[in-house]
Amino acid sequence: MSNEIEREILEAVQKRRNFAIISHPDAGKTTLTEKLLLYGGAIHQAGAVKARRDQRKATSDWMEMEKQRGISITSTVLQFAYRNFQINLLDTPGHQDFSEDTYRTLAAADNAVMLIDAAKGLEPQTRKLFEVCRLRGLPIFTFVNKMDRPGREPLELLDEIEQELGLKTYAVNWPIGMGDLFKGVYSRRQKAIHLFERRSHGSQQAQEDVIKLGDPKIEEYLEQELYYQFKEDLEILEELGDDLDLDQVHAGKMTPIFFGSAMTNFGVQLFLEAFLEYALKPEGRNSSVGVLDPTHPEFTGFVFKLQANMDPKHRDRVAFVRVCTGKFEKDMTVSHARTGKTVRLSRPQKLFAQDRASIEEAYGGDVIGLNNPGVFAIGDTIYSGKKLEYEGIPCFSPEMFSYIKNPNPSKFKQFQKGIKELREEGAIQIMYSTDEFRRDPILAAVGQLQFEVVQFRLLSEYGVETNLEPLPYSLARWVKGGWKALEKAGRIFNTIIVKDNWGRPVLLFKNQWGLQQVNSDNPDLKLDVIAPVGA
Ligand code: G4P
Repeated sequence: MSNEIEREILEAVQKRRNFAIISHPDAGKTTLTEKLLLYGGAIHQAGAVKARRDQRKATSDWMEMEKQRGISITSTVLQFAYRNFQINLLDTPGHQDFSEDTYRTLAAADNAVMLIDAAKGLEPQTRKLFEVCRLRGLPIFTFVNKMDRPGREPLELLDEIEQELGLKTYAVNWPIGMGDLFKGVYSRRQKAIHLFERRSHGSQQAQEDVIKLGDPKIEEYLEQELYYQFKEDLEILEELGDDLDLDQVHAGKMTPIFFGSAMTNFGVQLFLEAFLEYALKPEGRNSSVGVLDPTHPEFTGFVFKLQANMDPKHRDRVAFVRVCTGKFEKDMTVSHARTGKTVRLSRPQKLFAQDRASIEEAYGGDVIGLNNPGVFAIGDTIYSGKKLEYEGIPCFSPEMFSYIKNPNPSKFKQFQKGIKELREEGAIQIMYSTDEFRRDPILAAVGQLQFEVVQFRLLSEYGVETNLEPLPYSLARWVKGGWKALEKAGRIFNTIIVKDNWGRPVLLFKNQWGLQQVNSDNPDLKLDVIAPVGA
C-alpha cells in the first residue's frame, strides 16, 4: 500500500463525523434533519425531507407505504459536507416503522444526538433509544427543541437528564426566555448572545445577530426580568455545574446540551459547529484480530441493516454496510467472513435524500448500500486482506410477542423455510415455547410493523397465509448462565420461560413490575436485556 493511499485514508477519516438522532415522535427530528442538511448545502430550500415524511404519514394503507418505502428507505444515511467535514447522518426509523432496525442503526453510529421537545422533556422512545446508546457507550449530544414555544424550565430539564439518565450535563448554550418571550441563546463557547428573530418557518439559513457579553446593548434588547433571570441561571451553571470534559462526553457519561428551535432554524448552526468540534471521529473497532483503527489500510466493514423491497416488481434487497477501515472502491472484490465466499461489490449506493446515487469510494465512518443477492445477514463482516470478523450486532429485548400459526398443513415446509430465512435476515426474532406440544414459533418484535412485514413476506414470497395469536408480554430477559442458572433458582413466579432460536432460556414479563418482582425474589439470578451474540 503506497504512502499516498495511506495519507488519503487518514485525511478522509479525520474529516468524517457520523451520528444518529434519537427522539420521540414529534420532537422535531424531521425538521432538525432538514435544517442540518440546509447548512450542509445539501438542499437549498428546506422542505424536501418533510415532504417525504408527509408522504409517509399520509399513506394509511401499509402496502402503499411499503411501496414508497422502497424509495424513502434509502434515506438510511444522509451524507453532506459542512466546512471541512464530511458528515453521515444515520436515519433511525421511528414512528410506525419503529423496529429492530432502529436499534441496529445505532450499532453503526459513532455519536447520538438526543432531541428533546422542551415542553415534554424525556419521552418513552427517547429513553429506550438512550438505553441502547448507553449499552454501546455512544457519546450523546442533547438538543432541546421548540424553544419558541412555552416549555419547561431549562434547569429542570437538565435535572431530569441527570437524575433519570444518570448523565452529567454541560449546557453549551443557554436560552434566554422561551415561548413568546424567547430572545435567543447565550453561547458559553463564544461568550456571546445570539439574538432570536422570528422568521417564517426558517427555510433559509438564519443570519443571527450576535452581542458580546458585557456589551451595554444587551439590556436594550432584553427585558429587565429576562436579563436578571439569565444572569442568575448563568451563575448557577458556572458555580454548580460541571466543566465540559470531552473525555467524559466521549465515554457517554456527560452530555453537552444545546437549546434552539429547529422550525425557525435557530440555534441549529451553533449546535452543528460545536457538535463537529466535540464529536467523536470514527474510532477503532474490536474485531477477531484486535482493535482495528479506521486508518488500517485494508477495507473492512459490517452489515447493520437489510432492506427488502416489498414491491414484488422490484424485489431488490439492499445491505447497509458501515465502512470501518481502509478504502472502499466500486466493484472491488471482498471476502465474506461468515461463508468464506468472495463477493464482488457492484452497484454500491450512496444514499442521499430521495435519490440513490452511485458511489465510487468510501472510508471509515461512511455507510454504503450494497445490492444484496441474499448473501448478507445482519452483523456479517466483509473484508479485503486477512480474515477477520467484527463482533456481531446483539438482539435487544423485544417488546411484542405473538404466536404465528400456519393453518394449512400442506404449507408446512414453506412456512418453516420462510420463518428460518426471515429470522436469519434479521426481520424478526423467533422464540419457542418450552411446552413441547406447542410447536408454533413465537414472533418477538420491537414494533408492530415487524409482525406485518413477516406476515406479508410469508404470503408474498413463500405463499403461506398465517394467523397471529398475540401473547400478553412486553419484556424479555436472557438468563446469564443459561438453563443451569435457572435450575438453581428453582421455581420463578411472575414470568414465563421460553427458548430463543438457539435454545437458550428467555424470561418473558408482562410488565416492569413483573421483572422487578423476579429480580427481588431471585437476587442470584442475573438477567440481561441483550442476547449473547451469535449461537
Ligand atoms: P418528528 O420527525 O420528530 O416526528 O417531528 P417533526 O420534525 O415532524 O416535527 C413535529 C412537529 O413539530 C411539526 O409540526 C413541526 O413543524 C413542529 N416543530 C419542529 N420543530 C419545531 C420548533 O422548533 N418549534 C415549533 N414551534 N415547532 C416545531 P406539525 O404541525 O406536525 O407539522 P407542520 O404543519 O409544521 O409541518
